[in-house]
Amino acid sequence: MDILSFMFTNTVLLIVLFSGFADAIDIFTSYQSVSDGRTLVSREGIFELGFFSPGSSRNRYLGIWYKKIPVQSVIWVANRNNPIHDTTGLLIINRKGNLVLLSRRNGVVWYTDIKKGAQNPVVQLLDSGNLVMRSENESNSETFLWQSFDYPCDTLLPGMKLGWDLRTGLDRRLSAWKNSDDPSPGDFTVGVELYQYPDIVARKGSNEYVRTGPWNGLRFSGSPILRPNSIFENDFVWNEQEVYQVYNVKNKSLISRYMLNQNTYQGQHYIWIEKARSWMMITYIPRDICDSYDRCGPYGICVSTEVPPCQCLKRFKPKSSQNLYTMDLNPGCERSKPLNCQKGDGFIKYFGLKVPDTANSWVNRSMSFKECRARCFQNCSCMAYTPTDIRGEGSGCALWFGHLIDIKLVQDGGQDLYIRMSASEVEPKGHNKMKIAVIVPIAIFIVAGLLFVSCYICRSRASLKGFRENHVITDRSIEGQGEDSEVQLFDLALIANATNDFSTENKLGQGGFGPVYRGTLADGQEIAVKRLSKSSGQGLTEFKNEVALIAKLQHRNLVKLLGCCIQGEEKMLVYEYMPNKSLDFFIFEKTRSKLLDWPKRFNIICGVARGLVYLHQDSRLRIIHRDLKASNVLLDIEMNPKISDFGMARTFGGDQFEGNTNRVVGTYGYMAPEYAIDGQFSVKSDVFSFGILVLEIISGKKNRGFYNPGHGLNLIGHAWELWKEGKPLELIDPLLKESCNISEVIRGIHIGLLCVQQHPEDRPSMSSVVLMLGSDTELIQPKQPNFLIERKLPETDSSSSKLESSSTNDISMSILTGR
Ligand SMILES: *[C@@H]1O[C@H](CO)[C@@H](O)[C@H](O)[C@H]1NC(C)=O
Ligand SMILES: *[C@@H]1O[C@H](CO)[C@@H](O)[C@H](O)[C@H]1NC(C)=O
Ligand SMILES: *[C@@H]1O[C@H](CO)[C@@H](O)[C@H](O)[C@H]1NC(C)=O
Ligand SMILES: *[C@@H]1O[C@H](CO)[C@@H](O)[C@H](O)[C@H]1NC(C)=O
Repeated sequence: MDILSFMFTNTVLLIVLFSGFADAIDIFTSYQSVSDGRTLVSREGIFELGFFSPGSSRNRYLGIWYKKIPVQSVIWVANRNNPIHDTTGLLIINRKGNLVLLSRRNGVVWYTDIKKGAQNPVVQLLDSGNLVMRSENESNSETFLWQSFDYPCDTLLPGMKLGWDLRTGLDRRLSAWKNSDDPSPGDFTVGVELYQYPDIVARKGSNEYVRTGPWNGLRFSGSPILRPNSIFENDFVWNEQEVYQVYNVKNKSLISRYMLNQNTYQGQHYIWIEKARSWMMITYIPRDICDSYDRCGPYGICVSTEVPPCQCLKRFKPKSSQNLYTMDLNPGCERSKPLNCQKGDGFIKYFGLKVPDTANSWVNRSMSFKECRARCFQNCSCMAYTPTDIRGEGSGCALWFGHLIDIKLVQDGGQDLYIRMSASEVEPKGHNKMKIAVIVPIAIFIVAGLLFVSCYICRSRASLKGFRENHVITDRSIEGQGEDSEVQLFDLALIANATNDFSTENKLGQGGFGPVYRGTLADGQEIAVKRLSKSSGQGLTEFKNEVALIAKLQHRNLVKLLGCCIQGEEKMLVYEYMPNKSLDFFIFEKTRSKLLDWPKRFNIICGVARGLVYLHQDSRLRIIHRDLKASNVLLDIEMNPKISDFGMARTFGGDQFEGNTNRVVGTYGYMAPEYAIDGQFSVKSDVFSFGILVLEIISGKKNRGFYNPGHGLNLIGHAWELWKEGKPLELIDPLLKESCNISEVIRGIHIGLLCVQQHPEDRPSMSSVVLMLGSDTELIQPKQPNFLIERKLPETDSSSSKLESSSTNDISMSILTGR
């Protein structure tokens, strides 16, 4: 520091005298400087280096950002830990050939630490975003004395290395900004772990948070989305000198960046969309619940499409009787038959996995597959092996010692793993070295995948020009399983026992058809019991038949009806219990709505749409829901949506839909005009309700009860006005701003408005909605909805509220006040 302060006092004056150069210069030398207010601009004008204040902060930082992008997008900060508190910041090259950043008030806030500096160093901002220092006479050299790419902040650009230079011990890691006002490092970081079998690990503080899985020659075993695609390609260099990951965009004119987001704890890959003048997120990690580190304990396998996601690997059993459902401290699984190394164990191949945590691994990359097996076989503490390079026949050898943890089923593009098993588990007859063990879900995925190739809808619509994540989204239960199974009849005493005699503590809520209770059966299964109001006006046999039909409707986005209970006047429906309550519980409440970021909300929109397609056309019953609303969308433990209360009109007997309260079935604010006015309903009335739901999910506001004093419009009216004015983004829930993918949200609003058009024939069918959600095709412009101007109403029971309608054709809504 002494030297630096010496330098400071001695050189600043001199430098200030010489400072200054014409605008748009990319290079500076020892006799120049960059002061606050001036910038360096890379040769083609892509990047700019200068002083800035992040977010609403007034602190000054030296950083690099995109010159041509109007949204401030800083990709590198020099003094991230040491803000400058005034505008006297100055970047200079000192006599020893180091870059130094100082200010009058704070002194030296940042400097490079080059041991032997060059004689005539020059500093240049390159069009790659790299700030480099080199000797003047080596203008074309690729070897730099110093480069900012070696000291990344939260952003990885194409060509930038993430990982190690083993010769110098340099470790390039990313760390997120603390928040948008403060670029100092948050606790979310990512880097290459120098295990024998290297892995990329993101951490929260010092804890592992997500792994990509090691590189296997083609891709990262646990993150198929990072495989080469039409937009970018990853590479992983792993040799004596270096171990790093790098990505490049295929079309050099695309502007792309990868960054860590401290708010969502995601690594997010963005590209700049000039037309939308915004960044679009194309992928992100972690993607699902199974990406979280060690979710399922030793020898557990996480299957994101299963409920619960934690399963045991085949031939393993849960270690304790404790349900694998529980999220934390999962005890994991153990072998059904214990190992006996002396007697000679065998190996069984498991395929399609993210291979286990490699912290306790051993690698020899020149071994053959055969040698690898022999090596693992010989050493009793070797638990598993796999080739390190799966190209061709597979070569190289990675061994695992100790428990195998953090295994995930990767449906498309996982890796094979050979796990040590008791000899008795390995097929005894013949000399087949290994029996091929199929994990049950894989078989299901393949079959279902073939059957429903068309159900690939609703993945992240990242597909610019055919970019595909190669996720086959399967729909395992399109048509009801268990055709002949009679509906389960529950005994009243059993239900009463399960619900504590329908105690108020067990009451979950009051639905349109009666109260709902939570219960626990003797075997521990949790249920939700809907106790129907007594005057359902339907014979017992009819009721039972209807329940049996409804129970056959099985779809991952429908709440499962387990059975019913009929005794005397009592009729009850028994459903699976949804621990996360309903959608309205989250989206309309400030603190809870933070839990539903955009990817989750988009998943909910897609799931509800798929559930409705199933009700409308794929199931044999062709059910119109008639009362779709946020409180009828329940959420499972992974926040997947499940529609509830479908088929209620049927269980109440044909068209008798006035229910116990003598109200029209359906809920204010969600009802299509033709249904509200004439009682006419069709699948298109459900489409209308779906449109409202989409706008509510995006805006975080209720259609009913939304009141904008400016123009007195309800949510649809407000959305329409913003759409017409070309400001749809103003509709978005402010809490979504961080996580949302702009083009996806705009498309969501567009689809929502198409669904709420006045004439049913103009509204799309639910199957086209699913297609629209899942593709990039151009959509037609929505027509003006027949929106209603709602007077600010007291939040009372809808049967007593009055609604004033208006807009194009004055309709009286008096019908809603009860007939
Ligand atoms: C660059 O100049 C330095 C002295 O200023 C000299 O030592 C070095 O050899 C030169 N390098 C080249 C490539 O000319
Ligand atoms: C690269 O992208 C630009 C604009 O995004 C486009 O005009 C050009 O055709 C693309 N080039 C290739 C080779 O795809
Ligand atoms: C790796 O395996 C090769 C081939 O079996 C062998 O020649 C080499 O010595 C091994 N290296 C180490 C470090 O074990
Ligand atoms: C098995 O491998 C481990 C880890 O490489 C090693 O420490 C141990 O000595 C080996 N045991 C035998 C019997 O080779």
